[in-house]
Amino acid sequence: MAKPVRAGSGPLPRLRVQPTESELMSAPNKDYDPVQVTPLNADAVAAMRDEAIAAIEAATSLADLKSARLAHAGDRSPLALANREIGALPPYARKEAGQRVGRARGAVSQALTRRTAELQGEQEERMLAEETVDVTLPYDRDPRGARHPLTTLQERIGDVFVAMGWEVAEGPEAEAGWLNFDALNIGKDHPARSMQDTMFIEPEDAGVVLRTHTSPVQARSMLSRELPIYVICPGRTYRTDELDATHSPVFHQVEGLAVDKGLTMAHLKGTLDHFATAMFGEGITTRFRPSYFPFTEPSAEVDLVCFVCRGLEPEVAACRTCRGEGWIEWGGCGMVNPRVLVAAGVDPDTYSGFAFGMGVERTLMFRHRVKDMRDMVEGDVRFALPFGMEL
Ligand code: DAH
Repeated sequence: MAKPVRAGSGPLPRLRVQPTESELMSAPNKDYDPVQVTPLNADAVAAMRDEAIAAIEAATSLADLKSARLAHAGDRSPLALANREIGALPPYARKEAGQRVGRARGAVSQALTRRTAELQGEQEERMLAEETVDVTLPYDRDPRGARHPLTTLQERIGDVFVAMGWEVAEGPEAEAGWLNFDALNIGKDHPARSMQDTMFIEPEDAGVVLRTHTSPVQARSMLSRELPIYVICPGRTYRTDELDATHSPVFHQVEGLAVDKGLTMAHLKGTLDHFATAMFGEGITTRFRPSYFPFTEPSAEVDLVCFVCRGLEPEVAACRTCRGEGWIEWGGCGMVNPRVLVAAGVDPDTYSGFAFGMGVERTLMFRHRVKDMRDMVEGDVRFALPFGMEL
């Protein structure tokens, strides 16, 4: 069988490697003009490069930079288009044009790399700054408010006495005039009864007042409790005072009353020293100054060792808190007047009693160096918050 012969087989024609002169000058480079063709125009390439670098430098965010990259280094950017034109140049013109465009594109790409790093760095710093967690910010976005320090202090005072076996007593704020005054041996002509001090509940002759002190709870306790009596009574009181740094028409007192067999002023003094130390710390004891209250006999003002200078030389002389006295007035006290015992049905021949009364605001001011009474009544939670949530 004869070998099949491939049609058209035979020696292939020799390929021409070198183009002829006319081929070289054929389309599309026929009307090649070294000034018009961009890659050969050094000024045009430099302008594209400068414009690209300027746009890159001007980018202030990574998003800006992305637009600049697309416009100046993307496929359709002037330099990319110029690069494409190189292919259409005659070979002998390509090298120089290629180098020129290549250098320009290299410079643009370097500018891009540098600016990207810069903007990324800035973005990171910004994120670090913006996302910084301020650990001192309030953690509780839904604040629960705060109990008022006057409330917690009254409870604390109650606790000091309950710990000694006393009981906490209460009485109404709208009180019988008889208990607020008469039962306490405050006669009809006593200045505390005048319209200036007392808030009366209408009609005036109904004999009901807003209690001017917590002392009526003494009479109430003796009338309602079994003897012996050891009661402490913190509570709200009222007087017709103008609100200023040291006065308020609504304020608080704490009343103490002990009625037992054989009580003396020494028991009163010891009780108040303990109370003072519990309130103001070790070393803050009390002294008595003779005074007068209708419901106690004898009566005394209670002074505290000045909690600032502690009465010590040489600080005491310059102390502004106690004005160089070494002592600060805290409240009143005394042995229950036998007339008060009798008015409440207690036999003064068998029983004796002691009593004391202090301002709670004053105590809070001393304990926490609160300067202005108004801070306590205005109800701004920012005043109460730092005292914490004592339960
Ligand atoms: N009730 C008095 C006042 O409001 C304070 C006071 C003084 C109360 C002497 C007492 C006391 O129990 O014994 O100024």
